[in-house]
Amino acid sequence: MNIRILNSRENLNATAATVIASLLLSKPQAMLGLATGSTPIGIYRHLADMYRKGQVSFARAYSVNLDEYVGLSPEHPQSYRSFMNEHLFQHIDIPISHTRVPNGNALNLTAECAAHEQAILDHGPVDLQLLGIGHNGHIGFNEPGHSLTGATHVVDLKERTRSANARFFGDINAVPRQAVTMGVGTILKAKQIMLVAFGAEKADIIRQALTGPVTTECPASLLQCHPNVLILLDQEAGGWL
Ligand code: GLP
Repeated sequence: MNIRILNSRENLNATAATVIASLLLSKPQAMLGLATGSTPIGIYRHLADMYRKGQVSFARAYSVNLDEYVGLSPEHPQSYRSFMNEHLFQHIDIPISHTRVPNGNALNLTAECAAHEQAILDHGPVDLQLLGIGHNGHIGFNEPGHSLTGATHVVDLKERTRSANARFFGDINAVPRQAVTMGVGTILKAKQIMLVAFGAEKADIIRQALTGPVTTECPASLLQCHPNVLILLDQEAGGWL
């Protein structure tokens, strides 16, 4: 793993955006694996700026998102589809038909999971998968456990994850109990993975994920098995390494 500790959050966001933009310069039709949560917001803001300045185009790119809450329509303000529209897609030139976020409101979620995998097969493999990390080591919504599921699947969210995400919903009771998520197998098929974390509250889990045992009890630790992983941290998140 290539671990870089940047001296500011701004520098971290700019570095991550530059990695994505450089990929698109060398491969305009690249498939990007995108993430939600608070971590990528600054990266997306940088990418939108770079697009406005004519430094990058997404016109031929494809994107696929990691996950989506079950039971929220794409139009729901807290859906990850809304998040992606608000923070990235509406600011850049990617055709919306080239973007895929799982539909957590699909009547047949098993078919939706299969369709997500098929979209990755059709336009992939994912050239660059962007990841954040949950406080318990989850990636996407792959929660710690005795085992993990390889492919895109429906997952029950841990209470800790629901309470961490309650800040976006205002009330924990409004946070969905399930999500559709790419599996760890799906994630590990990406050609390159870029995990980004900032803040002291991520320092412990970053240490466990990067230097601890490879275990399903810390899903992010499985990234140690991938041959091309870039980890971008600020000094606080990298403080326990
Ligand atoms: C959610 C997302 C993850 C994300 C995590 C961390 O659970 N499904 O993809 O990595 O939150 O969020 P944050 O970046 O806000 O710390």
